[in-house]
Amino acid sequence: MILPIVAYGDPVLRKKGVEIDAHYKGLKELINNMFDTMYNANGVGLAAPQIGKSIRLFIVDASPFEDKEPDLQDFVQVFINPQIIEEQGNEWIFNEGCLSIPGVREDITRKPKILIRYFDENFEYYEEEFEGLAARVIQHEYDHIEGKLFTDRLNAFKKTLIKGKLNDISKGKVEVDYKMKFPK
Ligand code: NI
Repeated sequence: MILPIVAYGDPVLRKKGVEIDAHYKGLKELINNMFDTMYNANGVGLAAPQIGKSIRLFIVDASPFEDKEPDLQDFVQVFINPQIIEEQGNEWIFNEGCLSIPGVREDITRKPKILIRYFDENFEYYEEEFEGLAARVIQHEYDHIEGKLFTDRLNAFKKTLIKGKLNDISKGKVEVDYKMKFPK
């Protein structure tokens, strides 16, 4: 089932998600719905706050980046209660967008390598390293469950430039071809 994606300006996007356990009600269905929702919007990642749930859960499917990094061909994964332990390497720039902020894309600087602990959809525990675009997508989604958005990472000048656009999005004044929920 496709769920509406919460737009910029909704307070749920600013909340730090809480951890869940294996008994979280309807978890399997929620994950399925999140995949349906992400694919419908042509996203490569979706975090639970973006569908209105303030919990530490996000999904990724970075296979559309296969042309840039062939390893990503089958990079489809569920992250539950993740904790990024460290980030390292020389910062690099990638042009990011977000399903909650349609029509806005900006160059964002992040470190290329991460070490992360998480549980998968079967509550199997992993401690794993990711780099490049896989790390990038995870970092973006991880920000969501920390109540952060990629636009927070822009400098003051760039923030001023997109302020009007963000304000329009929060009021629903934006063209988008998937279902959204606007705060105002
Ligand atoms: Ni996003």
